[in-house]
Amino acid sequence: MSEREKLKQTDQLIRGWLSDVRQTVIADLHDPLSVSEKTSRKDLVTNIDKANEKRLVAAIRAFDPQAKILGEEGSGDHVTDMKGHVWIIDPLDGTLNFVKQRDNFAMMISLYIDGVGVLGYIMDVMRNIIYGGGPKLGVFANERRLESPPNISLRDGLLGVSGPMLVHDKYHLQAIDAASSGVRIIGSAGIEFIQVLTGKQNGYISHLMPWDFAAGKILAEQLELCVTKVDGTPVDMLSSNDVLVSTKDTHKDIVNMIR
Ligand code: IPD
Ligand code: CA
Ligand code: CA
Ligand code: CA
Repeated sequence: MSEREKLKQTDQLIRGWLSDVRQTVIADLHDPLSVSEKTSRKDLVTNIDKANEKRLVAAIRAFDPQAKILGEEGSGDHVTDMKGHVWIIDPLDGTLNFVKQRDNFAMMISLYIDGVGVLGYIMDVMRNIIYGGGPKLGVFANERRLESPPNISLRDGLLGVSGPMLVHDKYHLQAIDAASSGVRIIGSAGIEFIQVLTGKQNGYISHLMPWDFAAGKILAEQLELCVTKVDGTPVDMLSSNDVLVSTKDTHKDIVNMIR
């Protein structure tokens, strides 16, 4: 079997894991949640985040037993380097949206081999769409192949931002807001990445952990989008970064305004 055929099989398998976990999330959607605070009342974790992560980790372990797994809620491994197979998962992205809205949340999985992004998946849970693929497969929204979005400039598009970064005017974000057509704050990195992948927003800026951007980075780069730190330097896959994902022209515009 060719490498591409093997990847296609893995792609179908991962889409199956996400769909299976989604079924449980939807079945239990209106059950009472067990919610705890992590660092503050705005940083929550629920029984669903933990259950999803356990299921995804178990599926990955059964499929790829030698791999390392980096997951937000701690069911994975303590990962200190990107050598070999590293799976990065966010079992529920946008937990605050999940708790308050039961909408605008995602699940994300990615596979890196020796630091190179191979497969990335973002599932928009309530819309039941999996955005996934990689350099050898292209990017698909369920069965529909995505083309690269138009290379629009900062001025001509809507920019996704982190609320706290905008309020604190980090990186002159208020001037960047003024230079754009407007900003949007969704509250889920995964859903924000989807807006950029599909050309609904020309970019997104936020302080993110690896599991918030690992899948989106693979998909965005495949669609000729830029993913870097806000100052234009490469992101670190093992720590938090102030991340900018955008079209090429918006990237130039923002990095010029920041430097
Ligand atoms: C959060 C969301 C949010 C982003 C935070 C993330 P979580 O992820 O993606 O949009 O601003 O930085 O922590 O904790 O809900 O998975
Ligand atoms: Ca969290
Ligand atoms: Ca997240
Ligand atoms: Ca999460």
